[in-house]
Amino acid sequence: MSVMTQFISIAVDGPAASGKGTLARRLAEQFHLFYLDSGSVYRAVAKHILDLGKNPDNPEDAVSAALYVRDHLTTEMIDNPALRNDIVADATSRSCRFPPVRDVITETLRFYANHPPVSKHTKPFQGSILDGRDIGTVVCPNADVKLFLTANAKVRAERRFKELNAKGIETTYETVLQDMQDRDARDSGRETAPLKAAADAIHFDTSTMDVDTAFEKAVEVIRQKLA
Ligand code: CDP
Repeated sequence: MSVMTQFISIAVDGPAASGKGTLARRLAEQFHLFYLDSGSVYRAVAKHILDLGKNPDNPEDAVSAALYVRDHLTTEMIDNPALRNDIVADATSRSCRFPPVRDVITETLRFYANHPPVSKHTKPFQGSILDGRDIGTVVCPNADVKLFLTANAKVRAERRFKELNAKGIETTYETVLQDMQDRDARDSGRETAPLKAAADAIHFDTSTMDVDTAFEKAVEVIRQKLA
């Protein structure tokens, strides 16, 4: 059986601005996989809480927003540029720490990981690739390939600062670094599904690795694993 006829499942995890989204998107294209950014789904939950004027630190508000997102999830919802600001990011790492919220979203993510959407206009996906914090550990523990990306906090803060600047969002490097460190601490320190590499994950430190190099290495790893 050729490699490309089997269903491929790939998990990419790592902290903010470690390069997981860029890498996962390119791998999705390379191997014709359905790509889902789990952070966007958690961000959509937080945005819904904020839009209703509710509190991301309140578990009941967070759970009802998770149920809303589960039942109304669309591509437009997760591609919304309004999800990508630091107010939503902060509310996300608060609201997503509650176990019932994670249960609802984990189940939703797992469904899409195992059943990539089909379209009349494109050939069916060969599998799926999800990125986030707990894909290899919780959402897709049986993934064929697990990648864990890291980069030192200063490099990550610089990347995020440039991204925000390019979007015309005014902030300082120091604020971005502080926000990122606070969020990293919440994501790594929470009890349920903290940011953690799976035991069988392959680690990439992207502090000094450019996007093309990370991509080429990942393609090689995936080809070897699937051979
Ligand atoms: O790339 P960046 O960290 O800025 O954003 P993201 O990947 O969109 O994730 C936003 C937040 O969602 C993270 O800080 C986590 O608190 C949360 N998240 C999570 O808890 N579990 C996931 N699988 C993905 C994201």
